[in-house]
Formats: sequence, structure tokens, C-alpha cells
Amino acid sequence: SLIFIVMGDGKKTLDFKSKRILAPMVRVGTLPMRLLALDYGADIVYTEEIIDFKIINAKKIENELLGTVDFVLSDETVVFRTCAKEKNKVVFQLGTADAKRSLLAAQKVENYVAAIDVNMGCPKEFSIKGGMGSALLKKPEKVSEILTTLVSNLSIPVTCKIRVLNDLQDTLNLVKVIESTGVSAIAVHARTQYERPRHPNRNHFIREIANTVNIPVIANGGSKEFHTMKDIDAFCQDCGVTSVMIARAAQWNCSVFRKDGPLQLPDVVRDYIKYAVLYDSHYANTKYCVLQMLHEDMDMKEGQETLGAMSLDEICNIWGLEVFYKDVIKTRRKKSHNLTTIKEI
Ligand code: FNR
Repeated sequence: SLIFIVMGDGKKTLDFKSKRILAPMVRVGTLPMRLLALDYGADIVYTEEIIDFKIINAKKIENELLGTVDFVLSDETVVFRTCAKEKNKVVFQLGTADAKRSLLAAQKVENYVAAIDVNMGCPKEFSIKGGMGSALLKKPEKVSEILTTLVSNLSIPVTCKIRVLNDLQDTLNLVKVIESTGVSAIAVHARTQYERPRHPNRNHFIREIANTVNIPVIANGGSKEFHTMKDIDAFCQDCGVTSVMIARAAQWNCSVFRKDGPLQLPDVVRDYIKYAVLYDSHYANTKYCVLQMLHEDMDMKEGQETLGAMSLDEICNIWGLEVFYKDVIKTRRKKSHNLTTIKEI
């Protein structure tokens, strides 16, 4: 379905109504997981949170060998890797506490992504100390400054992801401020900064927010109940919205996005590893994500073996993908002979 439209004034829009969305997840939401979610039926995929100064300091590189655009630090850490396949569906999530820095960071990726999101929900100490994440929920002027700066200077849409405040009316006041900045949508994880996943999600807050603003509200926080599309639809209905953002259920079994029902976990793991190989992910990141997927199945022989794996090659052998791995590496070697240099854009 067509969801990405260029308007007459050069501004692009992204339709956030009736969408199934992969939530931002640090370490999990890198390119392989995003492409997998899209394959299984997600409409929009969010990147993991990326801190503004990291992307500002990164070099932009056209990686012809992989067919990607990479944003790489001087120590060769890949901060963000993306490709044409996701360009019109990927939302880049920024961690920021400063309007100017957020704009510099957003402008660096503006031509490669469909929208920019600002993380206003992260409760981790690192974020709070830096005035980022859920620290912003108590600073409406700062929220307004950051979002207004982004909305007025970018050609792509801006969204933000919040947690709720303890008081409903305070939360509604905050979302009114957010709406007034011109953002295209607002994602709501309906727990407070201090509540943990074991606390019930305040679905009724999402319902009230959706009644208060005129932009799409994306419901988040219901993963524990999600096994099939039916559960996801029930959550949306309970929240009174049409769009949903899914984190943990997708981390455990990304095929939760499939309309025809989820696939067996080992098949999902193999699909994931294939993308990790195709896009040359670091083996440690791949291993982490595979182990997250297996969290309830650690008595599986493959799970125990994955714990000890020290390379993508080994992970592929464990999961019966040795031929796939060899083919990809062979093709890549051939291709690299025809390439001369890595192009910095
Ligand atoms: C998260 N979450 C998160 N949120 C965010 O805005 N930026 C991020 O980078 C992350 N990172 C992250 C990593 C992991 C491993 C998890 C499990 C969660 C929070 C996430 O997007 C979501 O708001 C919550 O998990 C609640 O939604 P679910 O899990 O009930 O669908």
C-alpha cells in the first residue's frame, strides 16, 4: 500500500493510520530485524534509538558491496546501516536533549529515511542524566523547542514516542503541546517512567489521548498479550486507536506481524540470521538477538550452541545455514574484486 507521499511543497508525508509498526529497540532494531519485520507484514519500522552526537560524528558511506548506506564512527562502529528496500518505511529514532543538535543529526539522515522520531520515553539512567528520553516529559518547553525545530526544518515527517505521566490530565496537557508542534503522529507507551513491564499498561490513557488530539496515536505496551494478529487488533480496540507499535512480541517472534499467523521460531531465527549475513551484522549482535528470540527455549540444542558461537560462520553452521553462508561470502568476494574504493558521500 502507498504510504509515502511527496507533497507539492517538497515536504514528504507518511501515513500513520491503521499501521502495524516495529517499535524502536536498542540492539534489536538494526537492519536485519527491520527487513524481517517488513517481510512478515509490518507497515513501518523504527530504528533503535541513536544518540544525536553519534550520528553527527559519523561518516556517511555508500557501501556498494552490501548495497547499503552506512553511518560509521572513526573506530569503525556502524551507528546506522540502511538500504533502499526500507527507505520509505523506516523511521529514525533520535535520542536528544537539544534542538540544534537534534536538527543536525536529523539532517544527516534526512535523505535516507521516511521520518524522524524523538525518544521521550526511555527511563534508563544514561538518558535521564543527559536530559533525554523520559526526562523530557517534564519539560514541555524543551519538547516544544525540539519538535518545532525539527518539523519546520525537515522535509520528512516528525513523530515522537512518549510514556504517560502518573496523572491523566497532565498527560493530556503534554500531548496537546506535542500536537501543536506539527508532528505527524505520537506513539504512546502507556506506563510511567517508573513503571516496569510487569505493571499493567494504562490502555485507558491511550484512549483519552486519542480522543484529545487530531493526529494518529500509536498504541504501545501490550506485547505480553500478543500471539496473533487477533490479540493485536483487540489491543487496538481497547485503546481506541487503529495503529500499534510492537516491541517485545516482535523481539521474541518477529512473525507476529504475519496476517496468516506466526511461524515456528526456528524458521524465524533462520530468516533473521540470513539477513544478518546478507548485511554483514556483527556476530555478537546477531547472537544477542537470536538468544533473545530463544528466551523460552534454551533447552534447544541450537540455543546452547549459539551461546558459545564466536562468528557468523559458526552461528550459520549451528542453524543449518552453512551453504547459504558460503554462497553469500563467495558472491561478496567476487563483487569486491570489481570494486575499487569505498565511497564517502
Ligand atoms: C525497548 N524500548 C525502547 N523504546 C524506545 O523508545 N527506544 C529504544 O531504543 C528502546 N529500546 C528497547 C529495547 C528493548 C530490548 C526493549 C524490550 C524495549 C521500549 C519499547 O519500544 C516499548 O516501548 C516497550 O517495550 C513496550 O512495548 P511492548 O514491548 O509491550 O510492545
